[in-house]
Amino acid sequence: MSCSCQTEEKAAIQRVSTETQISALEELINRYKGVEGSLISVLQGIQEMYGYLPRPVLEYIAKRLDIKKARIYGVATFYAQFRLTPVGKHLILLCQGTACHVNGADKIEAALCDELGVEMGGTTENRLFTLTEAACLGCCSLAPVMMIDGQAYGPLTPDQARKVIRGILKQEEQSREEVGA
Ligand code: FES
Repeated sequence: MSCSCQTEEKAAIQRVSTETQISALEELINRYKGVEGSLISVLQGIQEMYGYLPRPVLEYIAKRLDIKKARIYGVATFYAQFRLTPVGKHLILLCQGTACHVNGADKIEAALCDELGVEMGGTTENRLFTLTEAACLGCCSLAPVMMIDGQAYGPLTPDQARKVIRGILKQEEQSREEVGA
C-alpha cells in the first residue's frame, strides 16, 4: 500500500533515475525487503546502478524497507566504499597503500590534481573524471599505481600519469567527433 509521502519519494527518484534504474531498484527492494542485516547489500546494489548513492533514492528505500534514514546515512557515510555524490564517467583510483606510498604516490597525486584541475576526491567540471584515493589495489609490483575504469596503470611517473589522462581525453574527443559526424 502506498501513501502520499511515498508517492512524493517516488516522484523524487524519477527525477534522478532512468526507467531501467527504477525497475532494477524495485527488484532490489523486493529481494531484500524484510531481510535482516541486508542494508550494506542494498547500498552496494544502489551504488552499482547509479555510480553513487543519490539522496532521493536513499529516502525512498528508507520508506520502502522501513529503515530509519539516520541508520542508512550512518552506514553510507561510515564505509569508504560508498559515495554520496555523483562520480565522473571515468573513476580514477589512486593507490595510497604502503608500496605505492613509498614509491611516490604523492607525486602522482600532485600531477593528477594539476592535470585535472581538481582536489583529491573531486570531479572535473565536464564530469569526465573523478579522482579518488584507494587502499592497496592488489598490484603492488606496479607501484605507484592507479586504476581507471578497472584497468591498472603502473609503475607510474607523474608524466606518465598525465599521459594516461590525456589519452583518455583524446579518445573522448574522437568518439564525440564520430557521433557528431
Ligand atoms: S600498495 Fe598500491 S597496489 Fe598495493
